[in-house]
Amino acid sequence: MSTRADWTGLFAHRAGVRGGEELAAILAGVPDGVLALTGGFPNPATFPTDVLGEIAARVLRDEPGLALQYTPVGGIPSVREYLADRQEALQGVSPEALMVTSGGMECLALACSAMLDQGDVVAVEGPTYLGALMAFRGAEADVVEIPMDEDGLIVEALAERLEDGLRPKFLYVIPEYQNPTGRTLPLERREALVELCRRHGVLILEDVAYRELAWGAEPLPTLWSLAPDAVVQAGTFSKVFFPGVRLGWAAGPDEVVEQLAAAKANTDQCAGALGQRMVEEYGRGGHFETHLPTARELYASHWRALDGALRAEMPEGVAWTEPTGGFLTWLRLPDGLDAMALRDAALDAGVAYVPGAPFYASEGGANELRLSFSALGEADLTEAGARLAAVVRTAL
Ligand SMILES: Cc1ncc(COP(=O)(O)O)c(C=O)c1O
Repeated sequence: MSTRADWTGLFAHRAGVRGGEELAAILAGVPDGVLALTGGFPNPATFPTDVLGEIAARVLRDEPGLALQYTPVGGIPSVREYLADRQEALQGVSPEALMVTSGGMECLALACSAMLDQGDVVAVEGPTYLGALMAFRGAEADVVEIPMDEDGLIVEALAERLEDGLRPKFLYVIPEYQNPTGRTLPLERREALVELCRRHGVLILEDVAYRELAWGAEPLPTLWSLAPDAVVQAGTFSKVFFPGVRLGWAAGPDEVVEQLAAAKANTDQCAGALGQRMVEEYGRGGHFETHLPTARELYASHWRALDGALRAEMPEGVAWTEPTGGFLTWLRLPDGLDAMALRDAALDAGVAYVPGAPFYASEGGANELRLSFSALGEADLTEAGARLAAVVRTAL
């Protein structure tokens, strides 16, 4: 009888350096009865199912040769045109080049594939989106963290590093309602950041995943709109349409987008045609304008419920971000408390969160944690906030 071979010796070096296992375990699911503030998924109530059914039926009936076929690598021409017009309408700049990607995450993967050799430096915010950290580490980059404060990336800290000789291939930034902190970079910092990066010849990779979920203040100008020559923007339809469509865009300087497209030719070759045509029909039909206000109001009311509970119940010395969009906040426990260690006590008390440490490229975040308020309804958010506060009070 033959025995099954063991393939574990086959894997590339990069397979062992991505990280993220700890977080995958944390996000794998929570026991019944536990209120989960963990997942960063959009709320399914925001998925526009009625319109989608009608659009899908129409596209399948009228244009199967387009919607069910392969597309050019950079996307269906009419879809690219629609996306370029949309960026111009929303951000005031017409892209030098724009391609359709299979989601925002793919854009980051294409940037790695096109630009990073082993040991190249990538600068990131500390903390940052875990998917990005894993992508950059998986590309065997040297990930260098630039500290943040309540207003996002500290531009002077980056300036010092650049003056000291740091030479990143690119700087990855999420300027609004950041994952994981919910923080937004103010206009003065945006202007200073693009000026600094231009001066040092550092490309900015701007991730605008949550930008259209602004429910507090009006969104600020994007980095790309401030410096289209020095910024590649990674966008996604996951939070404003639905993530199952796996659609996003990359906009930026010609020569960069061209190389991202060349990298895409080496992976899935094109984003799905059906999704591309659906997003185009949805957008041209004006449905973003009719649906987005409802989604924004849903997340705003969720935030009011969670914030209200935290204000009422959290002990002195606990602080959290007050986002003005998106669906994430970041909570800092008093020094000495360890969010990873408190996780089990929280689960026993019926509430789950994501400990902060995995979001840092460095050692930070022991007393920090991420809370998502997308999924639970208001009553559950109020209860979850109270349960979490009780856990913190007991730990103190
Ligand atoms: C900041 C950020 N960028 C990108 C993504 C990935 O988006 P997509 O679903 O389009 O790959 C996410 C998903 O949570 C995110 O939070």
